[in-house]
Formats: sequence, structure tokens, C-alpha cells
Amino acid sequence: MKRREFLSSSLALAAAGVAPRNAQAAEGSIEILMDEPVGRIAPEFHGQFTEHLGGCIYDGIWVGENSKIPNEGGIRKALVDRLRQVELPVDRWPGGCFADSYNWRDGIGPQAERPVRTNFWANTRELWKAPDGPQKYEPNTFGTPEFMRFCQLTGAKPYFAANVRSLTPLDFYQWVEYCNSPAGSTTLAKQRAADGSREPYNVLYWGVGNESWGCGGNFTPQEYSTEFRRFTTWVANFGMRLHFIGSGPGASIEDARVDWTRGFFEGLAANDKGLLRWMYGLSLHYYCGTTGNGSSIDFDLPGWYQMLWQANVMDSIIPKHWLAMGEIDTDHHVKLVVDEWGAWHKGPSIDPRYLFSYPPSLRDALVTGITLDTFNRHAEKLAMCNAAQLINNIHTSFLALEDRFTVTPIFWVFDMYKAHRGGHSLRFVADAPSISYTYEGKNRTLWGLAGSASLHQKEKKLVVTVVNPRASEERTTGIVLRGASARSGRATVLTNTDIHARNTFERPDTVHPTEEPANVSGSRFTWTFKPASVTKLEIDLA
Ligand code: AHR
Repeated sequence: MKRREFLSSSLALAAAGVAPRNAQAAEGSIEILMDEPVGRIAPEFHGQFTEHLGGCIYDGIWVGENSKIPNEGGIRKALVDRLRQVELPVDRWPGGCFADSYNWRDGIGPQAERPVRTNFWANTRELWKAPDGPQKYEPNTFGTPEFMRFCQLTGAKPYFAANVRSLTPLDFYQWVEYCNSPAGSTTLAKQRAADGSREPYNVLYWGVGNESWGCGGNFTPQEYSTEFRRFTTWVANFGMRLHFIGSGPGASIEDARVDWTRGFFEGLAANDKGLLRWMYGLSLHYYCGTTGNGSSIDFDLPGWYQMLWQANVMDSIIPKHWLAMGEIDTDHHVKLVVDEWGAWHKGPSIDPRYLFSYPPSLRDALVTGITLDTFNRHAEKLAMCNAAQLINNIHTSFLALEDRFTVTPIFWVFDMYKAHRGGHSLRFVADAPSISYTYEGKNRTLWGLAGSASLHQKEKKLVVTVVNPRASEERTTGIVLRGASARSGRATVLTNTDIHARNTFERPDTVHPTEEPANVSGSRFTWTFKPASVTKLEIDLA
């Protein structure tokens, strides 16, 4: 049997949970195929999403210029510093569902004169008893000029989501004009100057609606394809090729919702296939949910494994949509933009006003590692990905409550995986005894190791990231570099002896990566992956 055949057959057996366990050594194995590049890992795979939802904008990002909380032009300084550290590549704003109820005109001009509106989320059951505040009644203090200030401070590219449900193509056109028309050229350019920026913002990424099958208008895919055409035809581009992102499916564990992708693409290409050229990316949302009682911090061992299993479903969702897109967009001009993803628990929130502000644990850090590795392994299919959401929200990298602030374990995974950016993802094959567990009465199986690898040709460097999901067993693993040889290396490991570990305002360093030299050389070496860990190996190649 040839090597590839052996690998694929043993992997298929392991995936099916029928691998002869006793026949497998306790060791795992990883093979990295240097001559099988998958695609470039765009920095944009590590984007974030910030919605006017709960404490994400007000208190999370925006504390106000006169606040005693250290800020830069009203924006929380501790957050800016951390985002500079992690080099946030792109941020999506203002929603989410909020986007399709938002009038961008409310968020420009003098802040004191901006109208107060009911926030899209104000009537959510969880907020009925919560005190009123900017989370319920949108003061519009944070609008386009403030979001652009946030982007300029952090270095992130802006990605706007436009309102398709309740505004018109003309409003969209004029938001583009407000942002991008040359200095002094139009009434809106003069308004932008009065708001603080004479020069255009040159916003490239424009989402055309959000979840248009649901909160974004309850459209059918065919209806939405008509809207997409109306909104994107002949928008003034001011010398840029605007990147329009179509509203894509909301996938779930049970259903990838390929019907939406297929219907939308068919609708768009019905009379003129060339219209697909207007679309840069198709958005895809996948929240991997929660387990058991829905708590982000109180779960049992089956809940630990099940959560990781649910995160891994992303690995099958991406190719399903890619195949459906390819039926019509045969040269794959349009790429996927996974602009909402993460674990979505039910509680506990850090403050009753801050909807969905769950403290993430080490388990969510592993969800992040699994997901970012999945993106790397599908690099050729993706243009951008945005974790939902940046701060005080669903799959959050930061928690903030007035003058208190902490990074979460999720932040550290983004910080570690930054090393992959700009590299070429390589074919990565892992094999390790699978894990059997019982969740809600059903026997289930999870793989024993997973990860990704990227080659950085100029630096002669290989970056390997691996998740070991076993809660209490380390995994000694033989690593083979096919077509390269290691000279030296460094390891960064994120783990904790308690799988529930998390960072709190009082103890912000509980989950923190450690660094150590890695004794790696030649084209074969072994590495022991700690239990419940995310590991990065940075390998200098000979
Ligand atoms: O991120 C929270 C919400 O989840 C977004 O507003 C919406 O797009 C999705 O359903």
C-alpha cells in the first residue's frame, strides 16, 4: 500500500471511529507535506466582528473622551494596546442583525445632535429586566467617524455591513460616498471633513446586508439575489475595486444550509453569469453553540469533548459551500468570508446589561485553535474570517466592565496563530487514537490530534499549530516533514491543569501561554503535546 493510501485509509477508519484501537500505538503522528501547498493564509483570516450589541461597543470599545478610564479619543486604551499587539487585520461593523436596522446617517455629525434610537436587541428577553442604557437605546455616539478612529488606532481595515432590509440602494451608495469620495468633492465629503477626516477613508469591504434569510429581511435566496444586484450595480467606486460581500447562509450542526448558497448563486447568475464578478466574497456564519446547561464555565467532561466536536463541524461546512459555489462560479472567483463564528453559550453574562457577555474558558481557546487550523487547511477557499465578537460578547477575546479589563484565553490563541499570517498553508495529516465519549446518551468520537502548518519561504520558517483535545493525557507524537529538515525551534503552549480555567478581572493571568525552546532537528522528530492544549511550534528550516 502506498504511503498516501495508508494514511487516507487509516484516517478514514479513525474518522469513522472504527480504527482498531489496540493496533494503534499510543503515539500520534503528524505529517507535513512541503510540496503540497494549499493556499495563502491571509492576515484577514484573523479578523474580528463588533456589533452594537450588549457591552461590545458601549463600555467595551467606547468609553468616551471624558471618561476616567484611559482612552484614546474615547476608545478604551487597554483594548487598543492589545489589538496593536495582536495586529488586528480587519474589523466588521456595525452588525450583525443590528446592521439591517441601522441608519448610518444617525452616526455622523456632532455627537450631541445625533438621535437616540431603539437598539435592535433592546427587546430581547434577557434584557427585559436590565437597566436602560446605551445597550438598549442607541445614542449613536459611536458612528462611522468613531469606528474609523478605532480602525486607525488599531491598524484594522474596516469592513462595513450595509442595511438592505430597511434602507435603499441610494442610502448605501451615499454611505460609500461619505466614506470614499475625494477630499472636498461632494457634500458628504465636506460632512466627513467636518466630522474629522478631510481625506477619504477608502473603505474597501462592504457587506450587502446580514443574514438576509432571517433578521436581514426574511428574503428567499432568489429575492436576495435581486437585492444584491440592486445594491451593487454602479456604486461609485472612486478608483477602487470595492469588495462586495454577499449575505450567505447560517450553518448549524445539523444543516450547512447549502440551499441558500445554491439559490443565491443561481439567482445571481440567472440572466448574466458575469454578475458573479461583482461579488468578492460570500459570507458564511457558523456558531458551534454550547453544551449541557449552556454555561461557558460550568461543564462536564463529555461537554468538553462535545464542544470541540461541534467546533470541528466547520471543517465540513466550508467544502460543502465551496462545492455548491463551484457549480455556478466554475473558476471560483468568489471566495468564502466566514464573518461570524464562535462558541455561543447561554451564560453567565458578566453584567445584566451586556447581552451574551460570557467569560470564555480554556475550552473556548481550544475551539479557537480548532477553527483557525480549519481555516488554514481550507486557505484556498477563504478570503476573510471574523470571530463573533471582539469584546464583551459571544466568542470574546476581551472582557471589560467600566475600569476593569482582561484578555481571555481566546485572545492568546489569536496571538499565537498570528505567526501563520502571510504563510502558505501546507497539507497537514494528523493521526492519533480517537477519543470515545458519551454525550446526551449517544456514543461519540472525536479525533485525537488536529492542526495546521504554514511555510514562510522568505524566513525559511515553518509554523505548526496543534490542538490536543485529551483533557488529561499528553500525546507524544512523531512529526515528519516531507521535503524539509528542521534546524531549531521554539514552542508556545497554552494550557491549564483545569479545563475550566479562565481569566477574570481579579486573576487576568490564569490562562496564559508559556514559551520554551523546542529540541527539533532533521526531518523526523517527536514532540509531546500537553493535555488540553493549543501548541505552536516555530521551526527554522535547514
Ligand atoms: O453575533 C450575534 C448575532 O448572530 C448577529 O447579530 C447575527 O448576524 C447572528 O445571528
